[in-house]
Amino acid sequence: MVEELIHAKRMVIVSNRLPITLHKTDAGQWQIKSGSGGLITALGAVLRNRGGRWIGWIGADDESAIPLAKGASREAGYELTPVLLTAEEVDRYYHGFANAVLWPLFHDFINRCDFAPEYWPAYQQVNHKFARIIAETTAPTDYIWVQDYHLTLVAGYLRELGANRRTGFFLHVPFPPLDIFLRLPWRAQVLNALLQFDLIAFQTMRDHRNFMQCVRTLLPGIRLEKEDKFVSKVTTPERSLRVAAIPIGIDYDEFARGAEQAAEAAWYIHEKLPERQLILGVDRLDYSKGIPQRIRAIGNALERYPDLRERFTFTQVVVPSREDVPEYQELRSEIERLVGEINGRFTTSGWTPIHYIYRSLTREELLAYYRTSEVMLVTPLKDGMNLVAKEFCACSIEENAVLILSEFAGAAAQLSRYALLVNPYDVEGVADALHTALSMDGKERQSRMHRARTVIRRESIYWWVDNFLKAAISADLSYFPRAEYFVPQMDNKESA
Ligand code: UDP
Ligand code: G6P
Repeated sequence: MVEELIHAKRMVIVSNRLPITLHKTDAGQWQIKSGSGGLITALGAVLRNRGGRWIGWIGADDESAIPLAKGASREAGYELTPVLLTAEEVDRYYHGFANAVLWPLFHDFINRCDFAPEYWPAYQQVNHKFARIIAETTAPTDYIWVQDYHLTLVAGYLRELGANRRTGFFLHVPFPPLDIFLRLPWRAQVLNALLQFDLIAFQTMRDHRNFMQCVRTLLPGIRLEKEDKFVSKVTTPERSLRVAAIPIGIDYDEFARGAEQAAEAAWYIHEKLPERQLILGVDRLDYSKGIPQRIRAIGNALERYPDLRERFTFTQVVVPSREDVPEYQELRSEIERLVGEINGRFTTSGWTPIHYIYRSLTREELLAYYRTSEVMLVTPLKDGMNLVAKEFCACSIEENAVLILSEFAGAAAQLSRYALLVNPYDVEGVADALHTALSMDGKERQSRMHRARTVIRRESIYWWVDNFLKAAISADLSYFPRAEYFVPQMDNKESA
């Protein structure tokens, strides 16, 4: 019965961006580029599998781009509905409220927030625009699944417009603790708007707990009941809804299959770097990813463990992102300065410790790097999930690789026992973990990686969608996952 309901509903994904963006070249030609980030990788797999519609910003404000997006629908295998944003909306809603207020706030970087009052009306205006387009292009039987922090107000506006739809919301980024969320001048409006969805889901138990604490403190009179370890029921004077923790996954089989096929490219990378273990970092350019701290940890490891010199090559891939924002440009300069400093200090003839790539990789290149690297450093200062950690494990088909993972990545909730967990702020701790990883014997590597891959295969992107929709449609709690969640452990330094 539940299965039938799920398949009968047409799924409409709504996110800030479509999986493609359109840019006009200097010659006036349209150029289609695929977007970056975990949301697009994950949801792209879902819609390719089951069809449906994706509504999002197309990266342009020119109506002549619309037919191109429609053409791209045929290629994608699902419908793309483009949303146009004016230059001022991009500035105040996207660069402003979304990326200079909610992004830093939700990642606990309060000092990076710019609470400029003019951002809020633009955020409301664009959320209203999205709601209008949803109302016009969907039917009451469609399931409207809104993604991420850009669009927290959409369900409320749909109600105001009289569009009766089942709605769900998934937050890909962390939800902050109460004492951080309190700083948001529009805190009550955002919380109240989120309570207009029928189901709200977060990546981890920690996010779920933070959200519930904010509701409890800021919105008295709302009833909160814990129904299960992973699910709560919230009853407002008008209605009730559910709040859950459902960690996003990846299309495991596709990555594992792709890694098999990337054998030749993987071999090519390794052949250029004989006799060395490869360490990998892959991140969008973002201050939440802890890239400078990680590069310092590489320098620290080379300093304190001279036996590591000439034994590894660290490849750091940085995917350009939000390049118009000065903070991101400064971060890029800092990364490049640190890479130069460490290479300048430790390079010997025939060996450069850090290989730095500043561009988007092709899918084949990415899979080849994943497959051929023996260690991956995924050390965000804070991250909703961090899909690259899961993708790396899926592609480690020989199961001989080690994942070094930040305890502040959402993925730590599922992988804490199989990865080497680190505090990314602890430069020496990360350097020690690197030393441990590089000297770990094959049997331990194999046992850890095998168990990590088992969890990632089981709790895949399809498991995530099924659980979300079952919860949304049937409200049957027996469908909720029993995933492990991360409880920080005292490390040796603290317990010594
Ligand atoms: N990725 C990409 N191009 C690249 C490198 C990575 O599209 O050159 C993808 C990668 O496969 C992953 C996503 O970008 O799915 C990054 O997701 P993650 O959750 O790790 O972080 P986010 O960028 O969403 O903060
Ligand atoms: C993160 C966010 C996504 C966003 C992506 C890329 O993954 O959670 O919502 O799409 O970064 O960022 P951008 O600003 O380029 O869309």
